[in-house]
Amino acid sequence: MAITINPDRIAQLAAKEEAELDAKLQKSKAMYEQARKHLSHGVASSYQLREPWPIYIDHGKADRITDVDGNEYYDFHNGFGAMIQGHANPIIFEAVKEQFPKGTHFAATTENIIEVADNLAGRWKLPKWRFTNSGSESTMDAIRIARGYTGRDTIMKIFGSYHGHHDAVMISIGEEYNDIGDHYHMNSLPYGAGIPKDLVPLTVPVPFNDADAMERRIKELDAEGRLPACVIMEAAMMNLGVVLPEPGYLEAVREITRKYGVVLIFDEVKTGLCIAAAGATERFGVTPDIVTLAKALGGGLPMGAIGGTEEIMSVVESGKVNQVGTYSGNPLSAAAALASLTEVLTPQAYEHLDMLNDRIVSGCERVLKEYDLPGYAVGIGSKGCVTFSDTKVIDYETYKLHQSADLNHLCWLYNMNRGVFMTPGREEEWTLSVTHTPEAIDAYVDSFEAMARDLTA
Ligand SMILES: Cc1ncc(COP(=O)(O)O)c(C=O)c1O
Repeated sequence: MAITINPDRIAQLAAKEEAELDAKLQKSKAMYEQARKHLSHGVASSYQLREPWPIYIDHGKADRITDVDGNEYYDFHNGFGAMIQGHANPIIFEAVKEQFPKGTHFAATTENIIEVADNLAGRWKLPKWRFTNSGSESTMDAIRIARGYTGRDTIMKIFGSYHGHHDAVMISIGEEYNDIGDHYHMNSLPYGAGIPKDLVPLTVPVPFNDADAMERRIKELDAEGRLPACVIMEAAMMNLGVVLPEPGYLEAVREITRKYGVVLIFDEVKTGLCIAAAGATERFGVTPDIVTLAKALGGGLPMGAIGGTEEIMSVVESGKVNQVGTYSGNPLSAAAALASLTEVLTPQAYEHLDMLNDRIVSGCERVLKEYDLPGYAVGIGSKGCVTFSDTKVIDYETYKLHQSADLNHLCWLYNMNRGVFMTPGREEEWTLSVTHTPEAIDAYVDSFEAMARDLTA
């Protein structure tokens, strides 16, 4: 049995680390005052907030970034998991440099996007692809394709999963434990204001890692005359730390969705290209009907994609469903993506990521054991985290029961004060890039050990 950590000790250490960090971020503080005049809350997206003021970045190179105060960090945030190629990757720079003088936008198809589609079809074994500019656009269009294909309105998602910022999926994400409903009838809850109340019940959440609960709910919805068009899910959940599928779960989901004629969408915006060459689909050996990609796909430029079977994508080809967008397949993003897919994200790159992830996971495991802290480390491909829980987290209910937000925050502060950049204000996983070295990994583990030592002193 691991030790119980005194919450007063966490608060005491957090106050000390916060003061130290704030003192190092005085130029960010001044920039915030200037920024907030015309930039709402001083940031371009609310996910970039951090209390008491945001951290403004000056530049990045390979596995490091430097903030406007001149503090240098190893980057484990990597732009919410998009920069697996490392910052300012020279191969991608060359590709962008070559494309720019040829024009950056036509809203007409160029050869490089055809080659990107060919590459993705080869990786995912899904024959038909379309392009977007972000993960949200990809999941939005994938859901519309599923609705158009089935002629149904209701959709199913996993409670606690994030799939972007459009209405259909801003439902049942991070909620107070008391509000979430019971395991077999989880509540459809809007994530913030502005989501029309009539849309909310169209999205039905179910728990992760419980195929029986999913089948039960699908049957009930069918009896009510509202069989879902699709199940949209991450094959491994990436926003509760990292929650892996239990053995047999994804296979059962595949069988159930097939049995009821429900389209299975794997949202691989985070897992795709990051946990294997063909993401979760390859790693877990279960092929969905539709895959959605973004983040790492564009090599640092905005880009998303949707891949599907011939049959399902036929509704796009026939014009039954309109899948459109001015910047879709943008040639500059396509040039970056193609260089990334063919020259950066090679089999050797995935071997390197696996090697680094083994090192960080085993380092964190050693620290947990040595200091008798409650928790365990999980890693897959370029992703991983430490989950501070005595028992295994398998879904939102078990996550909420055991997570310590205060301990996660303390971990973040220790990292920031020791040159390790992680996502501010959120319980995010780390993302390694192909440019990370064992030295960067050891810096992360050293910072984790410093926290463990101080917590148990
Ligand atoms: C699994 C998943 N899907 C979709 C999205 C939305 O992507 P974007 O922020 O590019 O719209 C995210 C963003 O974090 C995500 O993690």
